[in-house]
Amino acid sequence: MDSLKNRDFLGLKDFKAAELEHLLELAAAMKAGQDRTRYLEGKTLGTLFTVPSTRTRISFQVAARQLGAYADHYSPAELQMSNNESLIDTAAVMSRYLDAIVVRLYDMSAYGQGRQSLLTMAEHSAKPVVNALDDKEHPCQVMADFLTLKERFGADYKKKKVVFTWAYAKRQKSPGVTHSIMTAAGLLGANLTVAFPPGFEPDEEYTAFALEAARRSGGRIEFSHDLNEACEGADVIYAKSWKSLRSTTERDRELRERARPDWCVSQSHFDRANPGAVFMDCMPLIRGDEATADVVDGPQSIRYDEAENRLHIQKAILASILQ
Ligand code: CP
Repeated sequence: MDSLKNRDFLGLKDFKAAELEHLLELAAAMKAGQDRTRYLEGKTLGTLFTVPSTRTRISFQVAARQLGAYADHYSPAELQMSNNESLIDTAAVMSRYLDAIVVRLYDMSAYGQGRQSLLTMAEHSAKPVVNALDDKEHPCQVMADFLTLKERFGADYKKKKVVFTWAYAKRQKSPGVTHSIMTAAGLLGANLTVAFPPGFEPDEEYTAFALEAARRSGGRIEFSHDLNEACEGADVIYAKSWKSLRSTTERDRELRERARPDWCVSQSHFDRANPGAVFMDCMPLIRGDEATADVVDGPQSIRYDEAENRLHIQKAILASILQ
């Protein structure tokens, strides 16, 4: 396996299966207390977020501190970005002070622009840049999701049927988790069914990559427009909303309101799933929108484990790219 040292962590397509497996193993060892190495002693991590975050921001800051680093947060209003300083100069200068920059920088109005901004920052930063969610990928979230699956199901986790479903939300959300979970499932050889109403197709670039990766890894990636059918024999039902990539904001709103009655995960979906099936959601969520409250708060819900695992996998990522 190539060293991950000094690599950016922008998207999962940049990594090999063995590298992702290594991160999962290191994160599990850190979580179990078997690896308490202070990999980042004396280093400084900066987090730059232009949009809100609870899990990602806090877990990165705690991860850095637990590994011995100092962590500092910046919002654009405090930086000269607010006076139109370029991303090129911002990244180049920040990287003269910091050892890594964790970035969440996108808005939902122009699909792909957030990704382009992140790539620009990575190109001009002399130090590793980590994607904390852009408008195409959310690699850290999905690595935490696979850590959660492995923890829950053990060595057989790749054989378990994971139904990753579009779910209603009033707000337009990034398709980042969708693209990253397809990518990871393809690379790792997992069994993933992506369900969504017509109009919410994932980006073809990620679909093509995932299908080809699955062909090589022996994984299985399927697509469905019928959530009830998709949930037959599921071991995991994972709810996530994302925006329609080809629609105007107005058309997206029409499509999601029309889809709403059929795309809220409920007990009826678990009745079709395998006994012991679990509910996942990377959060934030609204009870009654993405899923009914009894499912969200029920015994099958493992979304707090999923949230906690952000901390452990991000420690593994930071340790691997910065040690
Ligand atoms: N899942 C996730 O990225 O949560 P935050 O937006 O709170 O960081």
